[in-house]
Amino acid sequence: MAMIAKNCPEHKITVVDINQDRIDRWNSDELPIYEPGLLKVVKEARGRNLFFQTEVAAATTDADIIFVSVNTPTKMFGEGAGKAADLQFWEKTAHEILANCRKPEVVVVEKSTLPVRTAEAMAKILESGKSSTKFSVVSNPEFLAEGTAIEDLTNPDRVLIGGEQNDHGRKAAETVAALYAHWVPQERILLTSVWSSELSKLVANAMLAQRISSINSISALCERTEADIAEVSKAIGMDTRIGSKFLEASIGFGGSCFRKDILHLSYLCEYYGLPEVADYWESVVRINEWQTNRFFQSILQEQFNTLAGKTITLLGFAFKQDTGDTRDSPAIPLCEKLLAEHACVRVHDPKALENARQDLKEIQGDISFVEDVYEAADCAHALALVTQWKEYRELDFERIFQAMAKPAFIFDGRNHLDHKKLYEIGFNVFPLGKMPLKHL
Ligand code: UGA
Repeated sequence: MAMIAKNCPEHKITVVDINQDRIDRWNSDELPIYEPGLLKVVKEARGRNLFFQTEVAAATTDADIIFVSVNTPTKMFGEGAGKAADLQFWEKTAHEILANCRKPEVVVVEKSTLPVRTAEAMAKILESGKSSTKFSVVSNPEFLAEGTAIEDLTNPDRVLIGGEQNDHGRKAAETVAALYAHWVPQERILLTSVWSSELSKLVANAMLAQRISSINSISALCERTEADIAEVSKAIGMDTRIGSKFLEASIGFGGSCFRKDILHLSYLCEYYGLPEVADYWESVVRINEWQTNRFFQSILQEQFNTLAGKTITLLGFAFKQDTGDTRDSPAIPLCEKLLAEHACVRVHDPKALENARQDLKEIQGDISFVEDVYEAADCAHALALVTQWKEYRELDFERIFQAMAKPAFIFDGRNHLDHKKLYEIGFNVFPLGKMPLKHL
């Protein structure tokens, strides 16, 4: 919304959230999320045509367009538990819109990632009351990635807007398209049906995640055959039909979207009587969990199958670099497994320590959260790199090596570091999908 406010100064944008603390932070210089470049964009428009407040009803009354961006977590109870989307927040919002809107025509934009055919359900709720407002529901999924949000929003590959296939629906989709047309070239704004738009969002994430699981599965084969995953990724990525992005082997993908969206997709397939398709997509999640476990197993094995009392330092906890977000980070199951082995776990992350603390507060064991990376590595038996923060490449590994217990191990869950140099310093180095470099 900050980006729309920045680019469309003639429109007044009000962002509402029931959480006062979060709104206060949006009104300060300490935004509630870390996202490079976001504060600058917010500051440009805040107080001019961008406002943050908690009065949901007041902001809804006069709105011409309402973007609904509420949580749609995985449902954890009842029918579809563990897979389907939990739509309770979203339904509450639909009722709130119905109760408060006063304008004769209102466009409701589905921004949350939702199962296919949810817009239709939203439209039904909005038509159910005695409101004199004529509502149109449009699907406009978001494709930005965390850490590169501003760049992704400034130069999107495409903006997708799904509207009902009638004059009213087309007009609503065009109203939303006109906002983006302030800065996005016309040919990148795609107008589709609502269902195609909803499904495309789930499928885009599923296909991206599938590439990661594919390359991660091959990383395991590389380790058995002495092939090198970086060379394989490069070689296949140069085929323009395959492309080079999202082929970096990792400890496993994380984030609030991939797992949740694939499980939604798989649930939809099951619901529509396609169990084989459901199973195909679910396997992407299974491989991901397997990969994180594989990383843990290699730490355990190389530590002579005993981690009790040994200090393992995690370099990074966020699910990717340049964000403080830890939702579904592979660091969480990794820590759980290490603690179950009675290891002493030290976590370092430049931006995610507070979230890490919250994520692990229920878990028993010897765990500490350390702000200084050298202190975190002091006397450690092994380092496990989880997040590819740029600053980890610039660390003084000579100093770290001197301070660590010997033999010193490093497990690079992102192939992010200079393995040859680390080996020369004296580390036993365990990359992903490559031969380890061992002194032992
Ligand atoms: C993802 C999609 O990339 C966005 O297009 C989408 O809008 C967003 O989900 C969403 O639905 O909200 P995001 O989760 O922010 O964005 O970050 P990604 O860059 O996609 O990374 C996801 C995970 O995959 C991270 O843990 C990352 O480290 C991992 N990854 C990525 C790999 O392991 N290997 C790669 O080659 C690329």
